[in-house]
Amino acid sequence: MKLIAANWKSNPDTAKTAERLALAEDYEGVIIIPPFQYLERVRSVLKHASLGAQNVFWENGGPFTGEVSPSQLKNLSVSFVIAGHSEGLQVILCVGEPIQIRKDGIRSAKDFITNQIRYDLRGVKRSDAKKVIITYEPIWAISTSQNAEPDIPEEAAEICAYIKNLVNVRGVIYGGSVNAKNAKEFLGRDDIDGALVGGESLKPKEFQKIVSAATPLV
Ligand code: PGA
Repeated sequence: MKLIAANWKSNPDTAKTAERLALAEDYEGVIIIPPFQYLERVRSVLKHASLGAQNVFWENGGPFTGEVSPSQLKNLSVSFVIAGHSEGLQVILCVGEPIQIRKDGIRSAKDFITNQIRYDLRGVKRSDAKKVIITYEPIWAISTSQNAEPDIPEEAAEICAYIKNLVNVRGVIYGGSVNAKNAKEFLGRDDIDGALVGGESLKPKEFQKIVSAATPLV
């Protein structure tokens, strides 16, 4: 089964809208990742989807103004967290190259990502790395980047396969301008285990189509 993560980033503006959005996107296999302030509200309405957080601090409690700790997230039933070092939470680690690197070719992108992953997973035990989900998210493909366009699905799949050969992780998903139209091209590939969806996760109808592309049953 493919995994679809809905990264709402700093949206929406009100808790009521967050609740409505969560209800509309509450599918099996989906991870809803709202901003911190809506975690509790979103958790209270979800029946099928899992809950994720957009960030986490590495200390459990203490004098850290503005930080959110792993234990606080766990106590809110949060299962996943984007990036971060996290005790007991499943990490979604985002990697990806800037456009200048990709222009040098896919080999350069692979080298860049290799360094990122080696750095990010330094000191992480193999048994813990196995729980990590890596998102291959080329920076230039993220919808908010200038002149963003999605990666070529074939090349994204090649890089996801490369990452799987490099490290033994739970899965490698693709992120960057995934939408209802292109979802099948990414999710239909064996080497891509799912998608991290930003902008389109704020549009329930489009998001539903993306989920359908992952699981024809929905
Ligand atoms: P996007 O965002 O789908 O809007 O490109 C992806 C992400 O950064 O999570």
